[in-house]
Amino acid sequence: MCGIIGYVGSAERDAPDAIDVLLEGLSELEYRGYDSAGVALANGTLDVHKAEGELEALTSSLSTESLRDPAVGIGHTRWSTHGPPTDENAHPHTDAEGRVAVVHNGIIENYQTLRDELAADGVTFESQTDTEVVPHLIARSLESGDGDDGDERYDSADHKRAFRRAIDRLEGSYAIAAVFEGEETVYATRKDSPLVLGIDDSDGGAVATDGSDAVAATDGDGSTGYFLASDVPAFIEYTDRVVYLEDEEFVRLDATGWTVSDSDGVPLEKPVQTVDWDAEDTGKSGYDHYMLKEIHEQPSSLRQCLRGRVNELQGTVTLEELDALVDREFASPVRFVACGTSYHAARYGASLLQRRGTPATATIASEFTTDRVPVADGSLVVGITQSGETADTLRALREAQTAGATTLAVTNTVGSSAARAADHALYIRAGPEIGVAATKTFASQQLSVSLLSAALTDRASHEEVQSLRRVPDQVQTVLDTSNARAIAAELVGAGAFFFIGRGLNYPVALEGALKFKEITYEHAEGFAAGELKHGPLALVTEDTPVFAIVTGDGEVARKTISNIKEVEARDAPVVVVTDGVSDVERYADYVLEIPETDERAAAVLANVQLQLIAYWVAHEMGRSIDKPRNLAKSVTVE
Ligand code: F6R
Repeated sequence: MCGIIGYVGSAERDAPDAIDVLLEGLSELEYRGYDSAGVALANGTLDVHKAEGELEALTSSLSTESLRDPAVGIGHTRWSTHGPPTDENAHPHTDAEGRVAVVHNGIIENYQTLRDELAADGVTFESQTDTEVVPHLIARSLESGDGDDGDERYDSADHKRAFRRAIDRLEGSYAIAAVFEGEETVYATRKDSPLVLGIDDSDGGAVATDGSDAVAATDGDGSTGYFLASDVPAFIEYTDRVVYLEDEEFVRLDATGWTVSDSDGVPLEKPVQTVDWDAEDTGKSGYDHYMLKEIHEQPSSLRQCLRGRVNELQGTVTLEELDALVDREFASPVRFVACGTSYHAARYGASLLQRRGTPATATIASEFTTDRVPVADGSLVVGITQSGETADTLRALREAQTAGATTLAVTNTVGSSAARAADHALYIRAGPEIGVAATKTFASQQLSVSLLSAALTDRASHEEVQSLRRVPDQVQTVLDTSNARAIAAELVGAGAFFFIGRGLNYPVALEGALKFKEITYEHAEGFAAGELKHGPLALVTEDTPVFAIVTGDGEVARKTISNIKEVEARDAPVVVVTDGVSDVERYADYVLEIPETDERAAAVLANVQLQLIAYWVAHEMGRSIDKPRNLAKSVTVE
């Protein structure tokens, strides 16, 4: 989804050039997915540059020497929703006179009404975007002074008020930033789209605004200034001090400080938090792709996930942040909601709870709201979202809350919209994930819901806690010994790829197929192994490799082996992911081994092999692994 960056250099020292900060920030936001980019620089006049395609297209269109002076600007990576990716549709958008430039992430739902209204006033639109109504609304406010509705808040051609007035007209979701001709200030606001402030001043205090227009002044000991972005990696190189903006809060940045106020203009005191990432965490550390780096980070991110939460000696699981939640009785069932990969973690979590005798369901968040799934008053609804910004999941959580449910967000992003919207938050502690295809966050979601299911039911055997503890080392073993690259090379070029599993391995089959299709662009499907014979078997030929996950040697493994025989009889190449306990290797053309463990942990290990298969097939095919076509990391539209 679109990415926003804004920057105002500090008044107190030789701040970096805005153009450098903006371009670096946009490149850190590339992972969100985009198809065009642009910047606007404010230095008395407004200088707007934008280009369809990769950031390089924008960079090479800039004559950066002429842009060295301005210390204030906004930038944007666009992921098309209204109108195709073209130079005209790229942000920033301006009014006809070029007095204001605006960038926007989200969807303005009433844009057609506003567009018709503005067009009737004689406004000519340059783009097909919903966003372009915003600069025109601002310009109209500037022109009309008090405004045509007599609202006295808008009593002058004042940028701040004109900005607020325009925002008042919008319905939908937005993070919006604007710069004006003749003023070196960035104005911004948000509603249902992420926006975070980065502070690198020398104030250093926990709360840095008293609401006047220029507080939090710097004292000149090497600060770079104030940043605004859709996500922290955009400015982490400069500062780890952040302020998370809430819906309908307004921010104003200038060279002397920052202020946040509510929708009525009342100044707010906002805590400054420190994020525990550094710039290194968001680099590739020598790997060809972020995805491969993140796959290899799993042992360490899983250790972080478990840290302080499991006690092997006592065989207990403690989730301190959920103290107030775990001892409560909830109306049945526990409902998980999520999208994409996180939905697969939700299915896995629901299965774990069911195995402990607690009724649980997992529903795709967009279907949850579409179907108006009845939520019992006093029930627990768990939203799983690594970004914490997925619009469908946020809506499901909010609707559940309105219906009287207690809500829990299982997320990777501290301060994200989901973490703040839900009654409780459980952090998966995976660290920043830049590759669009989720990898380490899925593994950490699996462990987090394992911990959650134990904590909610107050039951975890010694063996279970021990096997959870061993997962990070066993993932390391998989990474050290995997033959996925060699198998991938053999399978490239097949017609389609199927993934099958039963029970806890069914969500892993779904996830294996999703990862595969996302980054290879090949047809891949995941099935419950027992479902093949009810239809999909018609597609199975010698040109459709089938990946089957078989762990343990119980009934589930035996039945999955029967399903493997069904595809073998149709000459399909069979790849088994197995701990070797069931002797399934004899039916396989290729084997991806995982260490022996219990069935819950095995589902985490098996998934790592499937991540590697997807990666190496995509690598072999020369795909754009970190930024697959048409996809975005953070999906902030419904
Ligand atoms: C797949 C992937 C997506 C996300 C989905 C939900 O690799 O990353 O399917 O899982 O868009 O995102 P979050 O977890 O941020 O809610």
